[in-house]
Amino acid sequence: MRVLLLGSGGREHAIFWKLSQSPDLKEIFVFPGNGGFPDRVIAKGINLNDFESIRAFVKANQIDLIFVGPEQPLVDGVTDALEKDCLVFGPVRRAAMLEGSKEFSKTFMQKHGIPTALAKSFNVSSEAIAYLKTRSLPIVIKADGLAAGKGVTVAQTFADAEAAIVDALDRKIFGTSGATVLIEDFLKGEEASVFAICDGERALPMIAAQDHKRVFDKDQGPNTGGMGAYVPVPFMKPDVMRRVQTDVLDRVVAGMKAEGSPYRGLLYAGLMVDNGVPSVVEFNCRFGDPETQALLRLLDEDLLHLARQSAQGKLPDRPLRFAAGAVICIVLAADGYPGEYRKNIPIPELKTVDSSGDIIFFHAGTAAQAGATVSTGGRVLNLTASGKDLAEARARAYAVLEKIQVPGLFYRKDIGLKGIL
Ligand code: AMP
Ligand code: GLY
Repeated sequence: MRVLLLGSGGREHAIFWKLSQSPDLKEIFVFPGNGGFPDRVIAKGINLNDFESIRAFVKANQIDLIFVGPEQPLVDGVTDALEKDCLVFGPVRRAAMLEGSKEFSKTFMQKHGIPTALAKSFNVSSEAIAYLKTRSLPIVIKADGLAAGKGVTVAQTFADAEAAIVDALDRKIFGTSGATVLIEDFLKGEEASVFAICDGERALPMIAAQDHKRVFDKDQGPNTGGMGAYVPVPFMKPDVMRRVQTDVLDRVVAGMKAEGSPYRGLLYAGLMVDNGVPSVVEFNCRFGDPETQALLRLLDEDLLHLARQSAQGKLPDRPLRFAAGAVICIVLAADGYPGEYRKNIPIPELKTVDSSGDIIFFHAGTAAQAGATVSTGGRVLNLTASGKDLAEARARAYAVLEKIQVPGLFYRKDIGLKGIL
């Protein structure tokens, strides 16, 4: 098959690595890509905001399948626009609204009996603040639309909650994405991410992963896109995964089918698990970053086949296979991230896969520039390490990081500790 992969993060570099192992892959192009991709695979002439430019590339290069990495093109309807031209891995626009609109997502969950926190939506700040006063702390304020991971405030005081409401509704700091806010009750517990590949009829879950959202050790500092992840997650035991399947994944697939927008593609359930009972914190309509970089290393399946079967509506009727062991992913971010961060940090040459095969580097915010590699984004590199268990994977990862210190980049020192019993 001939594939066009859209996206530029560590997630896409890991997807590229995994797709490249398929015996059925004839040729792969990526757009826009990053400094980790060989130049020859970078597609030219595409503009992600112009689906006609993608269609022209698909026709000219006889693309069989588009693999969509990030949410924005899906929420914008890339699948709807191009599914007549080739297979597209990723949900249609209305199904992608599970991520694109938190209000849509909450209403959908309430309608289909999917466990989640109580929330109400508002577009007038005085009404939002009046409701706020009837709830208890902590309380969560969420911008309705896509806000690059910055639209959620977990407020410990009413003053902070009020400020978040005013920022979104009156000061419009998220633009139209914050024209509606949700005020959501706080969920306690441990967070886990479960990704399922869906074909409109069924959802095949992957093993659970855990992200580390805060920028500093011990979950301090502001939220980020994710500073590290590991698989598997010890508290996501088979009975919890069964509940995720029946109460969350199956209900999404059945609900979307009933509403006339069958869910095909990757469904990401961000969960809070309290005493073995999962509730949905958020849905995303694509693979998570950096969980994917860890997960795909254990996935014992041909990802190209799964993407094709998902888009065609015919996934196999069996659980997905995973290798034993554990994988950890540690994000190296540019100083200042997630605020204003340094750019153009020189990145040393790093072999993608080391000789043992245990260590794999994926690039994220990097670019090739005059024969060298420099940083361009906040999350710059991802180091992944495998081991027979998480303790071994973790020790290997940090041993490498101590050796390669890159000035200008920092990383959390406690990734994976929660998963070691
Ligand atoms: P989201 O962008 O919806 O994933 O939210 C970002 C982060 O905010 C989540 O990963 C959680 O850590 C936290 N969060 C969101 N909603 C809640 C909630 N209802 N209760 C507790 N924490 C939450
Ligand atoms: N790791 C969080 C996300 O991809 O949204």
